[in-house]
Amino acid sequence: MGKLSKKQRAAERLQANIGTLRCPFCYEALTLIDDQNLTCSNRHVFDLAKQGYLNMAKQSQSTIYDTSLFNARQRLNEAGFYTPLVNQLDQELANLAPKIVLDAGCGEGSHLQQLNTRRHIPFPIGIDLAKEGVQQAAKHDEDVQWIVADLANTPMNNQSVDVILNILSPSNYAEFERVLAEDGVVIKVVPNQAYLKEIRQQLDQTDYSNNDVVDRFRESFDIIREHRVFAEQELIEAMFQDLIQMTPLTQDADLNQLNFVQHVTLDLTILVGQKRP
Ligand SMILES: C[S@@+](CC[C@H](N)C(=O)[O-])C[C@H]1O[C@@H](n2cnc3c(N)ncnc32)[C@H](O)[C@@H]1O
Ligand SMILES: [Zn+2]
Repeated sequence: MGKLSKKQRAAERLQANIGTLRCPFCYEALTLIDDQNLTCSNRHVFDLAKQGYLNMAKQSQSTIYDTSLFNARQRLNEAGFYTPLVNQLDQELANLAPKIVLDAGCGEGSHLQQLNTRRHIPFPIGIDLAKEGVQQAAKHDEDVQWIVADLANTPMNNQSVDVILNILSPSNYAEFERVLAEDGVVIKVVPNQAYLKEIRQQLDQTDYSNNDVVDRFRESFDIIREHRVFAEQELIEAMFQDLIQMTPLTQDADLNQLNFVQHVTLDLTILVGQKRP
């Protein structure tokens, strides 16, 4: 028997986990039709793309995140820039041994892909509102279910997810609470003050604090563990160019004005939160 196509693999995976998903328009259950699309009883139809991803966003939205930004992010991930973060997340997943992991705001998918490669997750799902990111993720990885979707209206059923990853992305805690299983956890990654400080200094953006973000997380979840990821990462010129392209920090900056730096600081906090009883 020949190798299954990406689309066939996605169809098998979706069929096995169909109860996890729901229609984001009317919240009804979904059925897989002819390995081609997911359909609800109100005839909302979501086609499975050739690359195995789904588009379940109510409307497409253009963001500052485009293909060149996602390409730069992916190259930086491949060069190991975020490996200290992935190592720590991997430890968390080792303890939790989740069946269903939702990466909310997965971008081009490298983090979830790397985690799933290290520690097979039975049903990993990555969602992002930027179609360019999801397409890129699906191009590189066929083991994760990639979905274009809004993290404020996920196509997930109530209490269906064991772990929500939310890495350097916006959150919607009401939605996260809805989809988390009773004993599920949210793992949120937030930058600390020294994160990319060598770039921030050049942009005069040194007054960042994550206090408000952490406070808002604490209002919704009990923090059961907290980890700091701190590393001085060495850069070569090509990585520096990718770094300044991939970060929203430089959104309004003239990239030519930035001076090459050989080291840059990775400083992140991982918050592990549990649902309140
Ligand atoms: C800084 S990027 C981080 C991406 C990825 N987690 C990473 O660490 O490389 C933030 C991501 O959040 C996504 N995003 C922003 N608002 C969103 C929403 N409402 N629903 C889903 N994704 C969203 C963006 O498209 C972008 O990919
Ligand atoms: Zn529907």
